[in-house]
Amino acid sequence: MNSDKRPTDSSPLDARPWPQGERCQGPSDRTFSSSLGLPRGGEARENFWKDKSVLVTGGAGFAGSHVVEELLRRDPSVRVTVADDLSSGKRENLRPVYKKVRIIRVDLRELKNAVTACRGQAVVMHLAARVWGVDYNQKHPGAMFRDNILLSAQVLEAAQSCGEAERFLMTSSVCVYPRDAAVPTPESEGFKGSPEPTNEGYGWAKRMGEFLARAYHKEFGLKVAIVRPANAYGPRDHFESQDSHVICALIRRVNRGDDPLKVWGDGSQTRSFLYVEDFARGLVDACERLTTCDPVNLGGGDEVAIGALAEAIVRLSGSKARIEFEPSRPSGQPRRACDASKAGDLLGFVPKVPLEEGLKRTIEWYRARMKKGSPS
Ligand SMILES: NC(=O)c1ccc[n+]([C@@H]2O[C@H](COP(=O)([O-])OP(=O)(O)OC[C@H]3O[C@@H](n4cnc5c(N)ncnc54)[C@H](O)[C@@H]3O)[C@@H](O)[C@H]2O)c1
Repeated sequence: MNSDKRPTDSSPLDARPWPQGERCQGPSDRTFSSSLGLPRGGEARENFWKDKSVLVTGGAGFAGSHVVEELLRRDPSVRVTVADDLSSGKRENLRPVYKKVRIIRVDLRELKNAVTACRGQAVVMHLAARVWGVDYNQKHPGAMFRDNILLSAQVLEAAQSCGEAERFLMTSSVCVYPRDAAVPTPESEGFKGSPEPTNEGYGWAKRMGEFLARAYHKEFGLKVAIVRPANAYGPRDHFESQDSHVICALIRRVNRGDDPLKVWGDGSQTRSFLYVEDFARGLVDACERLTTCDPVNLGGGDEVAIGALAEAIVRLSGSKARIEFEPSRPSGQPRRACDASKAGDLLGFVPKVPLEEGLKRTIEWYRARMKKGSPS
């Protein structure tokens, strides 16, 4: 997939009305004191989300669709608008909540579209991004940088200029960290050196998105949470893509019967993973409670070697496939695991779904989809 395939018509193609025929209003909870920042380790404030108008950019995507569900679980009165160009997101991802959300199909790299989306929104959760696996990242640093920085800049500018957002969430990534980062990596290393070369374009765009958010916070007082999530996995991830994330790629290949199962790299590279429901919960918590642009890692799962991950996927899939490593294929950063203690302190955030359980659920979901004839 490349940028040339993106829709060129940037008008809101199919804005759907609110289910009740209402327009989204500005912030309704004016009594909320957003200057308080975060109660350390405190519980989520009750009713923060009540009747709020919330924009989720990229809300039809893998993580975004889970964020939408998490918001509606917290408070069914939340009025969610999803702004997404559906370049990698799908309407189908929103099927469980379809009647409760308003979807506008727009290319948010265009400022006028971002303004249309942000108008009247009390909370802007920015997830829209071009997100691909290591191979695409390595070959397209220019497109990855251009599209991701454009998206963050336009959505931030729109949220700021509309003047109604009392919260902005900037979804960054652990991909901001350099190759030689300390492991587990603390937030303080986010601007050290350059991001890992295999995801340089994406990593720099995420860094610059953070920088811009901080600058807007300083200059205009926009209240921003910056979150750097670890690698996410789970239902609705992009299993169909030839350049998917490692867990999808392995599950897809094992379940189509690959033997040997070829694994990129020598298997020693490590990652920590976050089940997508934990990812979504962390983002919603952070957006509610962090206001000062101080970046927070979201992770906390174990650091696992890719070789061991492949073994677990083979075992949990009931396969007998032999694993064969391909050291000549790109494998990204040798070690990646974030220090998640700050999110624990500030948000009380602890992942609820252990890797083994999350993998089981993901494999089950994938198999159910394959049975229906829709592996994506
Ligand atoms: N998946 C991960 O492992 C991971 C880890 C850390 C951070 N993140 C971040 O989380 C966010 C969501 O990632 P994801 O994995 O769900 O990816 P995704 O590709 O499933 O979601 C991104 C969404 O943005 C939409 N989008 C892309 N370009 C757009 C444009 N020009 N205009 C409007 N919408 C556009 C896509 O259609 C898609 O629905 C991203 O910001 C990503 O950087 C993801």
